[in-house]
Amino acid sequence: MTPEPVKSLKGRDLLSLTEFTSAEIKCLLDLAAELKQRQKRGESQASTLTGKTLGMIFQKASTRTRVSFEVATYQLGGYALYLNANDLQLGRGETIADTARVLSRYLDGLVIRTYAQEDVEELALYANIPVINGLSDLYHPCQVLADLQTIREHKGDLEGLKLAYVGDGNNVCHSLLIAAAKLDLLFFVATPEEYPPAEKVIALAGQIARQTGSQIEILNSPVEAVANADVIITDVWTSMGQEASSKQRRKAFAPYQVNAELVKHARPDFIFLHCLPAHRGEEVTADIIDGPHAVVWDEAENRLHVQKAILSLIL
Ligand code: CP
Ligand code: NVA
Repeated sequence: MTPEPVKSLKGRDLLSLTEFTSAEIKCLLDLAAELKQRQKRGESQASTLTGKTLGMIFQKASTRTRVSFEVATYQLGGYALYLNANDLQLGRGETIADTARVLSRYLDGLVIRTYAQEDVEELALYANIPVINGLSDLYHPCQVLADLQTIREHKGDLEGLKLAYVGDGNNVCHSLLIAAAKLDLLFFVATPEEYPPAEKVIALAGQIARQTGSQIEILNSPVEAVANADVIITDVWTSMGQEASSKQRRKAFAPYQVNAELVKHARPDFIFLHCLPAHRGEEVTADIIDGPHAVVWDEAENRLHVQKAILSLIL
């Protein structure tokens, strides 16, 4: 396919990654890599967001997303404001629309971590500043951009790689599906029958994949998914908000643990990714996540660089 030209991303939202073209995603990843290099060389990037303020609404816990967005904004010369949803009038029934209208008068951009994807979209609809999805029950686009940057760093290029995701058909899996479809990747997903990715995301990824030529397979066999894989990705079995079903989940997901036995089927030089937080002994064993194939600390670090790229381009 002929690469599409990349227009300015200023003012754009990042809600699900579907709103970005593959050329725009690649441009973001290139900038993230460049910003990382510049930081390692000790070059200041503090003039990018001078005078700009990023608001960050959190309705769920966070270590990486919160800290990396705050530090990213600081390093770019802006100011980040952490807004715990329970401390906002939002927690007492003020509408998302009114919150969006008001915050747009003070801020230059908004990150939101929440439950319903519809809430992220409603915020974006009524805000006239860019809105970034910092995780919803449906998607985790910033995470997956950092994953792609990490895979590029360790594997040189994304082309021709086989990616395998093993575990819950959750927000991270959904964003990987969209990214894989956009970027023409070979992506195999294995989940238990009871916990597949959402039908609508499979359909959407399938529709995009038909245009790009990506191959996406949704399976139940972890061995088949991991066979000859270059990259193995997993995530927690119980996402935030699903705590009530954690016991039954542990049982259903037990055959989907990423362990020494499973990874024997992958390529000898496979890399292992996990967005973290991890539960050693559940979705992954300690020998894998703390072993030589894991790139999870680079992956966590890349949240910072990729989000600096996002903020630089859309704010
Ligand atoms: N991976 C990730 O989003 O981590 P946090 O929940 O700590 O932000
Ligand atoms: N799927 C996990 C990701 C955490 C970063 C969750 O939603 O809790």
